[in-house]
Amino acid sequence: MALKFISAEEAAALINHDQNVGFSGFTHAGCPKVVPVALAKRAEEEHAKGNPFKIGMFTGASTGDSIDGSLARANAVKFRTPYQTNRDMRNAVNNKQVHDPIDYFDMHLSQVAQEIRYGFLGGVDVAIVEACEVTEDGKIVPTAGVGITPTICRMAKTVIVELNSKVPSSLRGIHDLYELQDPPKRRHINIFEVQGRIGLEYIKVDPEKIFIVETSEESEGGGFAPLDKTTAQIGDNVANFFVNEMKSGRIPQGFLPVQSGVGNIANAVLGSMGSNKDIPRFDVYTEVIQDAVLNMMREGKISFASGCSLTVSNEQLQQLYDDLDFFKNKLVLRPSEISNNPGLVRRLGVIGINTAIEVDIFGNVNSTHVMGNNMMNGIGGSGDFTRNSYLSIFVTPSIAKNGDISCIVPKVSHTDHTEHSVKVIVSEYGVADLRGKGPNQRAREIIEKCAHPDYRPMLHEYITLQDKGHTPQDLYSCYEFHKSFLETGSMKNADLSKFKK
Ligand code: COA
Repeated sequence: MALKFISAEEAAALINHDQNVGFSGFTHAGCPKVVPVALAKRAEEEHAKGNPFKIGMFTGASTGDSIDGSLARANAVKFRTPYQTNRDMRNAVNNKQVHDPIDYFDMHLSQVAQEIRYGFLGGVDVAIVEACEVTEDGKIVPTAGVGITPTICRMAKTVIVELNSKVPSSLRGIHDLYELQDPPKRRHINIFEVQGRIGLEYIKVDPEKIFIVETSEESEGGGFAPLDKTTAQIGDNVANFFVNEMKSGRIPQGFLPVQSGVGNIANAVLGSMGSNKDIPRFDVYTEVIQDAVLNMMREGKISFASGCSLTVSNEQLQQLYDDLDFFKNKLVLRPSEISNNPGLVRRLGVIGINTAIEVDIFGNVNSTHVMGNNMMNGIGGSGDFTRNSYLSIFVTPSIAKNGDISCIVPKVSHTDHTEHSVKVIVSEYGVADLRGKGPNQRAREIIEKCAHPDYRPMLHEYITLQDKGHTPQDLYSCYEFHKSFLETGSMKNADLSKFKK
């Protein structure tokens, strides 16, 4: 049948107040851009007429400003899941005083597609997806990010495709698109190595429900901050730790697949691994493929990368498109329920490296909340990997906000990953190896190896406050660091002496 071409405004008019909309992509990669902006405009016009207009939002992960930024600024969001990094969306989520509350719920990214299928989150009315190719028989080829695209395309009553001419259709073949079956009929996932492929290179939907908007939009990827001393030292500490693990036989000589989280530190850790001559060429089984991965592929340090998105700067993306012959057989992009699948992470023996906001002296990790209240981004894929990794590592600078915050605290203000899942913590000062250690030993290891020297005496003092039981946790004073920051502007002013018995 003939494909139906419409404008972005006509596409936005297909979406009504109170509907649930699923967006393609993962981070800014692979996200639609013009229809969400038109949708935000439509919401503002409806609001100006006195009409309500808000949608529910399902995404793979965070998105670009065209989605999260535009819709948050237009006050057009009823609920949002599973992860966001946009300043305006974050303000809207946290600032109930100045913004209508958004019901934001934070989820493990591997679970989003299946929970939509299970009906836990309400149906999907409309899917808005970016593609580099659409065929008359309803085959849609995604662009640089996949996320939950196969599921929303299948479930939505209407599929709006942004066909982006900036993305070469020769990208077709880089994806491995596969949807899991629902229990009790789920089958095993036949991936036994990072390169394994089990799906199609396109998503097939009923062509009747497809509407196409032609675009030529640039990707919304920013670059990375230049390496600072702290970040570089964290990267080197991780790389040296791996070298020792190989020497002692705990990491095989051929290495294991690596997952590395989002942001500057994660990018720097990979860079340090690349420049360490004692670390052999390795594979990546991860969620976001960042700039360092592509650089290391060119240098021959990474042989293959499986991920959910090419979360790279626009410059890197263009270079990849220009050099697809080199990259195409070294990369695969999968839906998030496969890239982050807990069973596959455990089967492949993935080494997970993620960044913490704060960690406590017992090894519990907060990845999401600032001072217990404010949502930063969300748990993302960190839980999918941390709980199931061969070796789960958290990296963090020892301090934040010029030293007024210690990122190593007596008790985290919010817990995303418990002591049971966290094996190693790395700061710029060193590596705390928590394997085989109970709470007292863990506390000493983390304080001595990772805490900033200014905070070590206070943290040591803390563990003397309580001598009862298995864990030296003192419920009377465990948030004294946080209280001190909230009341005086610095954790350094915490006074634990008043809790001494
Ligand atoms: N208390 C309060 N604020 C803190 C803090 C703490 N303990 N530690 C850091 N911060 C602040 C920083 O000062 C910075 O503030 P600013 O934006 O005002 O400068 C902000 O938090 C972010 O720190 P930054 O170092 O820029 O973070 P990042 O880019 O390395 O990201 C996370 C860190 C934890 C927010 C990010 O990795 C994340 O969202 N993780 C969860 C999801 C995840 O791990 N996904 C990967 C799975 S594949």
